[in-house]
Amino acid sequence: MRIPIIAGNWKMNKTISESTYLVNEIKESHLREDVEVVVAVPFTSLTEVKKAIEGTRIKLAAQNMHWEGQGAYTGEISPLMLKEIGIDYCIIGHSERRQYFNETDETVNKKAIAALSYSIKPIICVGETLEQREKNEEEKVVEEQILKAFEGIEEGQIKDIVIAYEPVWAIGTGRTASSEDANKMCGFIRKIIGYKYGEQAAKTIRIQYGGSVKPTNIKELMDMDHIDGALVGGASLVADDFVKIVNY
Ligand code: PGA
Repeated sequence: MRIPIIAGNWKMNKTISESTYLVNEIKESHLREDVEVVVAVPFTSLTEVKKAIEGTRIKLAAQNMHWEGQGAYTGEISPLMLKEIGIDYCIIGHSERRQYFNETDETVNKKAIAALSYSIKPIICVGETLEQREKNEEEKVVEEQILKAFEGIEEGQIKDIVIAYEPVWAIGTGRTASSEDANKMCGFIRKIIGYKYGEQAAKTIRIQYGGSVKPTNIKELMDMDHIDGALVGGASLVADDFVKIVNY
C-alpha cells in the first residue's frame, strides 16, 4: 500500500512571517489522515515553519540543496545544514532549476545520493518539455532522466524516494496533463523502476504528478492507478486551495 503524498512547493514565495501565517492556516484546517502532507518552503522559512508544525503530521521539505556536507561553495546550502533543521524531504531537480540554474541529470544524481546519506528523502523531479512531447520523445527523455538520477542508488533506498513527474509544459501554465496521460507516464516510470530494481520496488515507489494541480482536478488525478500524490505549485500558496487538494 502506497501512502498518498501531497506536497506544496512554495517556490520563491513567502517571507518568514508570511510562511508562518500560511502554515498556521494549513495546520489549523482539517487534513485527511490517510495522506502525507508536505510543505516545501524557502530556505529562510525552514526553521520557523519547523517550529510551527511541531506536533502536527505536516512534514517539511527544502526545495534544493548542494551535495557536499560543507565546503567552499558560496551561496549554497548543504544537506548537513538542512538535516540540523530537521527537514524530512528535499525537492531535487525541479524543472525550474534545470532550466534556470543549470541543474543536470548528473547533479540531480549527486544530490539524490547525498540526501539519502543524510536521511533526507529526495523528491526527484522529471518531465519533458513541450518541444520534446511534440516530437513524441517524452518516454525517451523521462527514461534517461530516471536512469541517470538513480545511478548508484540501491534497491533498499527506493522506499525513501519519491518521484515527481512534472511535464514542463504543464507547470504554472494552467494546462494540466490529462489524467490518462499523467497516469500513462507515471506507469511508464514505474515500469523503469521495475526493470532496474524488480517488482517489489516498482510497487513501493511513490510517484507524484505535478503541473497545474488544482482543487478541481486533483480527484481525477488521484483516482488513477499509478499516481500516488501531487507536487503543487501555485495552488499551494492559498491555504484553502491546498487544504482542498489534500482532502481531495
Ligand atoms: P504549478 O507548479 O502547480 O504552479 O504548475 C508545480 C511545480 O512546479 O511543482
